[in-house]
Amino acid sequence: MSEPTALPRAWPGVIEQFRDRLELPPGTPTVSLGEGGTPLVPAPALSQRVGAQVWVKIEGCNPTGSFKDRGMTTAISVAKGQGAQAVICASTGNTSASAAAYAVRAGMTCAVLVPQGRIAVGKLAQAIAFGATVVQVNGNFDDCLNVARGLAQRYPVALMNSVNPMRLQGQKTAAFEVVDVLGQAPTIHVVPVGNAANIAAYWMGYQQEHREGRTTELPHMWGVQAAGAAPIVLGHPVQQPDTIATAIRIGNPASWRLAEQARDDSGGRIVAVSDEQILAAHRLLSREDGLFVEPASAAPAAGLITAAQAGQLPAGQRVVLTATGNGLKDPQWAVSEGVQPVCIEPDPDQAAQALQLQRA
Ligand code: F0G
Repeated sequence: MSEPTALPRAWPGVIEQFRDRLELPPGTPTVSLGEGGTPLVPAPALSQRVGAQVWVKIEGCNPTGSFKDRGMTTAISVAKGQGAQAVICASTGNTSASAAAYAVRAGMTCAVLVPQGRIAVGKLAQAIAFGATVVQVNGNFDDCLNVARGLAQRYPVALMNSVNPMRLQGQKTAAFEVVDVLGQAPTIHVVPVGNAANIAAYWMGYQQEHREGRTTELPHMWGVQAAGAAPIVLGHPVQQPDTIATAIRIGNPASWRLAEQARDDSGGRIVAVSDEQILAAHRLLSREDGLFVEPASAAPAAGLITAAQAGQLPAGQRVVLTATGNGLKDPQWAVSEGVQPVCIEPDPDQAAQALQLQRA
């Protein structure tokens, strides 16, 4: 049997696609699952609601269903090049799913530390499926990260959290793709903020595009935190962070300063939205724009709607939101709307009745 032939123009993953724009150690091997190259789609209903031209970067289309794969391909590849055999991370769920998958590809073992009972079931299922050792910590994400950092200092395990600068190298490629598609940076780019690295990674990417002449404009970076986990907005760590958006349930972000820098240097803002606002935006994205995202990924839409209502969004701006994670990871918020599908016998008449169809 002959080898299966590759598609002629298959997307090669972010390292091969952007290698000359990434600062990786020379000779770094490529460990990839084909991440990146995600769709940037217009959101007509949201655009109409806020009076701007809104596009959504669908990061849920990455191999493990979140933007984390962009930074994991680079961090794991560099660790592999340095001879690491084991990786570790703290996570609210997506980082652990991604680290576990890329560790499989690299032939490494992976251990993940997650806050007990506080990660979405889809994400936990992924880490388990990929064969990672999952340890639940009786504490929140911030406690998990402290433990992971301590272990990486004392034991031969490489840390895969975004305090590892190789993560940002991969994550900044999302900004490259936005500029490639729009032919220019947006006026405003909005991301959810948790451990606060992704907002910094986008800003790094846009600045690089600007420096290297691929965009003449730079966006204002807007970050959105959940009101119950909004340390940057409040200006102090939150001891007991709480929100239904478990991905960003973080009280003391590791990249706090980098996020503030991205906000200030870009003339942007970091705001907080309530869980109710997140769920309303989640519903709008799915019911009116056909985009099913996880709750944390609806925070940017909530922040944008709030800003528009307050008259803080000048008309006609070009806005990009990052939908950081796939809705299937945490589906209970759609199910909990209380919609109960009816049950019928396998009979066309009963089906027609249930659907209230009238004969043509
Ligand atoms: N959106 C989703 C879906 C996330 O999983 C995260 C972070 C963020 C937004 C925030 O990004 O931390 O760079 O500000 N999740 C991490 C994790 C903390 O462990 O999966 P950030």
